[in-house]
Amino acid sequence: MEFIISRYNPETDSKPYDQHYHLPDAEITPDMMLLNALQKIRELDPGLSFRSSCQEGVCGSDGMNVNGQNRLSCITPLSSLSTPVKIKPLPGLPIIKDLIIDMSLFYQHYKEIDPFLQATSLNPDREHLQTPQQRSELDGSYECILCGCCSTSCPSFWWNPDQFLGPAALLAAQRFVVDSRDIMPIERLKSLDDPMKTFRCRHIQNCTAACPKGLNPSQAIQSLKAKILSHD
Ligand code: FES
Repeated sequence: MEFIISRYNPETDSKPYDQHYHLPDAEITPDMMLLNALQKIRELDPGLSFRSSCQEGVCGSDGMNVNGQNRLSCITPLSSLSTPVKIKPLPGLPIIKDLIIDMSLFYQHYKEIDPFLQATSLNPDREHLQTPQQRSELDGSYECILCGCCSTSCPSFWWNPDQFLGPAALLAAQRFVVDSRDIMPIERLKSLDDPMKTFRCRHIQNCTAACPKGLNPSQAIQSLKAKILSHD
């Protein structure tokens, strides 16, 4: 099986370049994931750099662009990919080395939405209770693993990475705005009432197409926008 992997070492290369690799068919099993193939390639070329950890689609560390689509390599079956498999780092953020990108800006935007429950007391006498209906409001947003596949697939984020918060941060913002236990939903909406932070979303929906967890950040952003406008 053939692979074309983008390589870049900022200490020695002026720009990224493609490197071709071949894995013999004997090395490939029917249920093999792309991450397993990358690990085998790294045995051949120990200098190849990429992130991974859980290998189960949970930690979100191995986002990469595969045949033009952002994916998690650990849950991408090799059998689903056409060859040669073209692998690049997630687009739109600086490359540290090979397939490893600098996600500082991504996390900065996430931090900006205050991604934690703002409750009446830090040490309540009992749990913050919710009805099943209130709890169900969180479905479709709490499952985000912050892999960055959505935000780095979004043209609005590519063009304004320092100002537009991006789909992942806005999905998280929606998650806390709809949480019945949070006491600051109006303040959260006011802080998001900004033409660049939130309304730069043009509903392109690349984010929803890219999400490896099957979430719908685009719909969450539209819901957030509607809530912001209703409070103006
Ligand atoms: Fe953790 Fe893929 S290695 S999500």
